[in-house]
Amino acid sequence: MRPFEVGDTEEVVALWDRCGLLRPWNDPRKDIERKLTVQPELFFVAESDGVVATAMAGYDGHRGWLYYVAVAPERRGEGIGRDIVAHSESALTNLGCPKINVQIRSGNDAVQSFWSGLGFEPDQATGMGKRLIPD
Ligand SMILES: CC(C)(COP(=O)(O)OP(=O)(O)OC[C@H]1O[C@@H](n2cnc3c(N)ncnc32)[C@H](O)[C@@H]1OP(=O)(O)O)[C@@H](O)C(=O)NCCC(=O)NCCS
Repeated sequence: MRPFEVGDTEEVVALWDRCGLLRPWNDPRKDIERKLTVQPELFFVAESDGVVATAMAGYDGHRGWLYYVAVAPERRGEGIGRDIVAHSESALTNLGCPKINVQIRSGNDAVQSFWSGLGFEPDQATGMGKRLIPD
C-alpha cells in the first residue's frame, strides 16, 4: 500500500475501466490531476506485481470521503478492498476526521454488502451534485 505516483496513471485508469468505474462525464486523467493538487498523499494504490487496487480519500475539515475504491477483478475476495479502505480510514483518522462518507452509484447496490461489512451504514440523506467545471 503506498501513495499514488504519476507514473501509475495509465495503469490506474485501465484498472478503473476494468472495474466499471469510468463514466463519460468524468475524465479520469483530470480527476487524477486534480487530486494531485489537493491531499495527494491520500490517494492510495495497492501494488502486487502491478497496481491491483486504488482508493482516493480526502478530508474537507468536516467529513472524509472515499472515491475510486477498486480492486482488480482477478484479485477480488482476498481482502485487498478491506485493507485499502482500512489504510484510508487510518490516514483520515490521523487527520482528526470524525466520519467518512462514500457514494454508491445507482445500479451498484450489490456493493452495499461490502461497505456494511466494513461498518458503513446507509445515511438518511440524498446525495446531490452540481458540476462546476465540465470535463
Ligand atoms: C467492492 C470491491 C472494492 C471489493 O474488493 P475485494 O478486494 O473483493 O473485497 P474484500 O476481499 O476485501 O472483501 C471484504 C468483504 O466484503 C465482501 N464483499 C466484497 N465484495 C462484495 C460484493 N460485491 N458483494 C458482497 N460482498 C462483497 C467479501 O465477501 C468480504 O466479506 P468477508 O470478510 O465476510 O469474507 C471490488 O469488488 C470492486 O473493485 N468492485 C468494483 C468497483 C466498485 O464497485 N467499487 C465500489 C464503489 S462504491
